[in-house]
Amino acid sequence: MTAPGLRPMAPTDVDAATELILGNDWGVRREWLEFATTQAACIPMVAEADGEIVGTGVGTVNGPAGWIGTIFIAPDRRGHGLGRAITQAIIDRLESAGCRSLVLVATSEGRRLYERMGFEVQTQYRIMQAIGLPPVDREDGVRPFEVTDLPGLERLDREGTGEDRAHAIRRLADGETAKVVTGAEGGIDGFVIRAPWGGGATIARSADAALRIATARRRAAGPEGRVRVGLLDENVEGLARLTEIGFRLTWSAPRMLRGEPQSWRPDWIWGQFNHAMG
Ligand SMILES: CC(C)(COP(=O)(O)OP(=O)(O)OC[C@H]1O[C@@H](n2cnc3c(N)ncnc32)[C@H](O)[C@@H]1OP(=O)(O)O)[C@@H](O)C(=O)NCCC(=O)NCCS
Repeated sequence: MTAPGLRPMAPTDVDAATELILGNDWGVRREWLEFATTQAACIPMVAEADGEIVGTGVGTVNGPAGWIGTIFIAPDRRGHGLGRAITQAIIDRLESAGCRSLVLVATSEGRRLYERMGFEVQTQYRIMQAIGLPPVDREDGVRPFEVTDLPGLERLDREGTGEDRAHAIRRLADGETAKVVTGAEGGIDGFVIRAPWGGGATIARSADAALRIATARRRAAGPEGRVRVGLLDENVEGLARLTEIGFRLTWSAPRMLRGEPQSWRPDWIWGQFNHAMG
C-alpha cells in the first residue's frame, strides 16, 4: 500500500469522505462536511492514497479556541500513525491561526491517541434525550430569532463558551433555525440554533431559560419525535432538572483540552452544533 499524503478537503471530496465514514458505520456526515468545506473558519483535511480518501479530520477556529473533530481513518489503514498525523496537521494549522486552547470530544478509540498528543480530560459531555410532546399554540417565553438579536446572542455565546463562534452563528441562525428566550429587560437569556446536520447549539444563562428552550423543542418535535441536549458535568442543576422532566442519559464522552484553560461558563452550555465545532 502507498503511504497516504495529507491535503485540504475540497467540496468535491465530500462524496468520497461521506462514503468512507458512512460505509464504516460512523454516521452520515455529508451536511457537516459540506459546511466545513465552505466555511473559512474550518480546516477540513483528508488523507489520500492512490487517489482514494482513506482518512478525514476537521479543525475549526473559534477565535482563541480551536476544535478538532471528525478524525476518521479507514479501518485497514489504522495503527500506522495516520490518525496522529492528520490530528497533528490540524493542530499545526489551528495554532498558526492563533488558537491557544485546543478542544475535542474523544471516543473511547481516540482517547489514548489524544492523551499521547498532550490532551487531558477537562470534563464530560452528558447527552440526554427525551421524547417529544404534543404541540401547543404558543410557547411561553420562547420566540423565533430576529436579526437584531445577533449582538446579544453573540455576547451570550462568547461569555458561555469563551470562544468566538460568530462565524457559525451568522451562517446558521435565522427565523426558522433559531429561537431565543429574553429576560426582564429584553436581554437574551438563552438561545438554540439548529444545524442542518441535526445538532443544536444551546447556550442559556439559567436553567429556567434552558428548560423553556428544551420544552419548545419537544413540542416542535411532537410525540413521535425525540430531542437531545448536551450538558457538561459542571451543570449539576441542569442535569437534575432535565431528569425531573423526563430526559434520560443516552451517552457520555470526555471533553479534552490541550493548551490554555478557557475562561468560560460550562454550566451555560446545553447543546452543541456538533462535537467537531462545539
Ligand atoms: C482513533 C483513530 C482515528 C486512530 O487512527 P490510527 O490511524 O489508527 O491512529 P494512529 O495509528 O496514529 O495511532 C493508533 C495506534 O497506532 C500506533 N502507531 C502509531 N504510529 C505507528 C506506526 N508508525 N506503526 C505502527 N503503529 C503505530 C499507536 O501507538 C497507536 O497504538 P495504541 O493505541 O495501541 O497505543 C481510528 O481508530 C478511527 O478512525 N477510529 C474511529 C473513529 C474515531 O473514533 N475517531 C476519533 C474521534 S475523537
